[in-house]
Amino acid sequence: MSEDDLPVAERVSAVTFLDADRLAMRAGDPEPEPPSPAGSRRWIERMRYFLTVDPDGCLVAEDTGGITGFAISQNRGPLWYLATYGVLPGRQGRGIGRRLMDAALAHAGDRPGLFSATAHPGATRRYRLAGFTLHPQMRMVGRVDRSALPPVRGLREGAEGDLEWMDDLDRALRGAGHGPDHRHMLGSQRLVVSADRGRPGYVYIDDGAGRPTLLAAADSETARLLLWEALASAREETLVNCITTPNHWAVDAALTARLHLDQEGFLAVRGMDPPAPYLASGHFL
Ligand SMILES: CC(C)(COP(=O)(O)OP(=O)(O)OC[C@H]1O[C@@H](n2cnc3c(N)ncnc32)[C@H](O)[C@@H]1OP(=O)(O)O)[C@@H](O)C(=O)NCCC(=O)NCCS
Repeated sequence: MSEDDLPVAERVSAVTFLDADRLAMRAGDPEPEPPSPAGSRRWIERMRYFLTVDPDGCLVAEDTGGITGFAISQNRGPLWYLATYGVLPGRQGRGIGRRLMDAALAHAGDRPGLFSATAHPGATRRYRLAGFTLHPQMRMVGRVDRSALPPVRGLREGAEGDLEWMDDLDRALRGAGHGPDHRHMLGSQRLVVSADRGRPGYVYIDDGAGRPTLLAAADSETARLLLWEALASAREETLVNCITTPNHWAVDAALTARLHLDQEGFLAVRGMDPPAPYLASGHFL
């Protein structure tokens, strides 16, 4: 993929995931919607960022009609992650996804890796055949009951000066720091960290939706406090996702806030266990 591909690749992604969301719809779910113009701009910005950090991991498939699919993966030191992957609905099931995945895995080499996977039948089949272990993910949804949230102490706003110890914590939990991804997230999201360096932890909060997008901690008590802080800023309906079974502390913390338990997709890993206490970012893992 090159910078010039970004506008068309974004459209291919939008069409692909709208179709996948419709396929995954359960009774009572709201009708899936295409990305907003702001969402499309964010997608392009994120892909432009991936192109600057690890361009060899950014791949598109094309035929004479143009781009038919994409696989965007990134190496961060000794760790590989898949940020997004899709093939146009009309072109699925013909081996394009397999060739994209083979190329992405060639980029990974023998690095351990992880990503958050949809339950799309083509995706789960592809991932398992590629050797990944699929861990079911839970998510907590609903409206936070602020009166049920316990008082939270011992946290402070995070800043650039925190990134070094945050990378150390990442290495302990997932084998590699987020490195440049931290700086990228810090540019657009609120960062809250534990004030006690003896019990490190951090959470990024999407201020618009007030939802935690990436959380890491050395212990589950610190993780719980960070999650409550994120939930305290939630407006309207909120969502805590990417909860694997070793992270039941997140289920308990969100139950306290009167969110309810649901299921969505898988955390796919190879060469590593699902990190904990940890809530992966869907984009930066
Ligand atoms: C996942 C995805 C990229 C795979 O691309 P693809 O071109 O369909 O992949 P392939 O044809 O190489 O392989 C898919 C496998 O699943 C099967 N498959 C594909 N779509 C299927 C469907 N809807 N139902 C059942 N099986 C399906 C294919 O037959 C193939 O199996 P085979 O190689 O043994 O024949 C594509 O299906 C997709 O874009 N899905 C929607 C978006 C999504 O969920 N992306 C993953 C985000 S984590």
